[in-house]
Amino acid sequence: MANVFENCLNYGGALHVPVITIDGPTASGKGTVAQRVARHLGFHLLDSGALYRLVALAGLRGGVALDDEASLAKLAAALPCRFSGTAVFLDGEDVSDTIRAEDVGKASSRVAALPAVREALVERQLRFCQQPGLVADGRDMGTVIFPDADLKVFLTASVEARAGRRYKQLIDKGFSANILDLRKDLEERDARDSQRAAAPLKPAPDAYLLDTSDLTIEEGVKQVLEWYRAAKA
Ligand code: C5P
Repeated sequence: MANVFENCLNYGGALHVPVITIDGPTASGKGTVAQRVARHLGFHLLDSGALYRLVALAGLRGGVALDDEASLAKLAAALPCRFSGTAVFLDGEDVSDTIRAEDVGKASSRVAALPAVREALVERQLRFCQQPGLVADGRDMGTVIFPDADLKVFLTASVEARAGRRYKQLIDKGFSANILDLRKDLEERDARDSQRAAAPLKPAPDAYLLDTSDLTIEEGVKQVLEWYRAAKA
């Protein structure tokens, strides 16, 4: 894992590839902020959470136990997935909405705690590091995968704000949802993501912290772009 960033340079070519990492807990708004920052700068986007969701979905469909580390790592290493814009395909099937369902989200946080699964996904994540630049969204982008990123941001929001956002997202996608259950699930997932031994959810020491509880998406995007401009200057 020590030469992870060298690998990033290999994928990006001889020139430095600018990388912005946006980490944070579930429903902190990082996915939307990352998408808009990437679009604004014309950069590639890595939604690393989608990879863990894909492994979970493939595992659930294949009847693999969610603690069977070796089988899940094998699945992760050979995951037949493809990204096209914000659409995600598994074995040719568009699973963009399916991977956002709550059961897949819960399962993804369990498979993400398994070190062999995380290791199996490293190379795939590094391949996103291409010119003209990358915005990488996840939990360990700034701490483990891109430790030398040009800008690291850690987005947070209160659990109330996050449960409200998750509720709206699910209802908008046509799923049923209960706000109290969502809140409980978020708290459980936060605890699992921050307490796990492998790549726990935590800000990198050099990350800028951004609390989005009372911010609009546009305000969050504006702040990240300002930090990026300052970092480049
Ligand atoms: O970001 P998202 O909610 O889609 O991520 C799904 C799950 O994948 C998270 O609950 C987390 O456990 C895991 N994850 C991770 N490391 C990442 C991205 C996501 O452990 N870089």
